[in-house]
Amino acid sequence: MIVVTAPTSDIGRRVIRNLLQSGTPLRVIARDPSRLTEETRDSAEIVQGSHGDTAAVNRAFDGADAVFWLAPADPKAASVIAAYVDFTRPAAAALKAQGIKRVVSITALGRGSPLADKAGYVTGSLAMDDLIAATGVACRSLACPSFMDNIARQATAITKMGKFFLPISGDLRLPSVATSDIATVAARWLLDNSWSGQSEVAVLGPEDISFNDMSAIISDVLGKAVTYQQIGFDAYKARFVEIGLSDAMAQGMTDMARAKDQGLDLAVSRNPENTTPTDFRTWCEDAFAATTLGGRGR
Ligand SMILES: NC(=O)c1ccc[n+]([C@@H]2O[C@H](COP(=O)([O-])OP(=O)(O)OC[C@H]3O[C@@H](n4cnc5c(N)ncnc54)[C@H](OP(=O)(O)O)[C@@H]3O)[C@@H](O)[C@H]2O)c1
Repeated sequence: MIVVTAPTSDIGRRVIRNLLQSGTPLRVIARDPSRLTEETRDSAEIVQGSHGDTAAVNRAFDGADAVFWLAPADPKAASVIAAYVDFTRPAAAALKAQGIKRVVSITALGRGSPLADKAGYVTGSLAMDDLIAATGVACRSLACPSFMDNIARQATAITKMGKFFLPISGDLRLPSVATSDIATVAARWLLDNSWSGQSEVAVLGPEDISFNDMSAIISDVLGKAVTYQQIGFDAYKARFVEIGLSDAMAQGMTDMARAKDQGLDLAVSRNPENTTPTDFRTWCEDAFAATTLGGRGR
């Protein structure tokens, strides 16, 4: 039995799709089961609740072998540690209490970097991994750079203004990964019951790419000019406060962006094991085909 948390997330719903193809027994934890796909509702056991809740995780982990773990990073949290570590505490206790054998979790690149202590969401994610590892469970933390899918969250600005915005230097080439590829890697580890121990697995995408490179590709795919505009860190934070993030989480986004601008994601070299196939052009064509950029593609 494999338990999937955050089954409605970009990664989680794709992990489920991959796992269902294998016919493995599945259980999901969902706050609102009506948001699950029909296929998931028909094929998986459903525990209703939040995976940050003690009763829900104990019910879900009972008799299970493996867990897919994704912390949702509450935008209103009092700190990044509250959002990642405190949210994960009930599950960490339940992993031990219910004797879970393996955990595959979503985390971020940055471990070992001198920038990791002040990297906002990344700092929270890495502390979450430490909490999971401290339970003694066998685990693989999938260490991801920024998702290509983040660009889809600026679909309105792209379609209405022909622009997208971040505080990161436009020419800086960074790794970037498609959530569909992360889900493929996660499902592979979840279905393999031969591994033990604890380690990070980088999931890097096929190439380093700058936001200026991305804007050229988006323009080509859309058939209209789209430019990348670098904005200041203060303006970036202010935008998150304006849309309702707590000050701490808006600061967390800003600290993460600053650390990435300073090279946080560039410490791991690409090799055949950590290179995933979907390039930005393919992701872009797929995202547009699925409706507009906000579409839920592959
Ligand atoms: N974006 C990046 O570039 C990046 C890079 C590296 C790592 N990450 C990590 O990836 C994760 C985000 O993955 P994603 O983009 O696939 O997620 P997503 O699409 O934003 O989905 C968030 C999920 O969390 C659930 N959720 C929200 N609040 C919840 C709560 N209080 N209790 C239980 N569930 C809750 C939502 O479910 P419902 O609303 O349906 O209940 C949904 O399934 C985060 O841990 C982030 O740190 C992101």
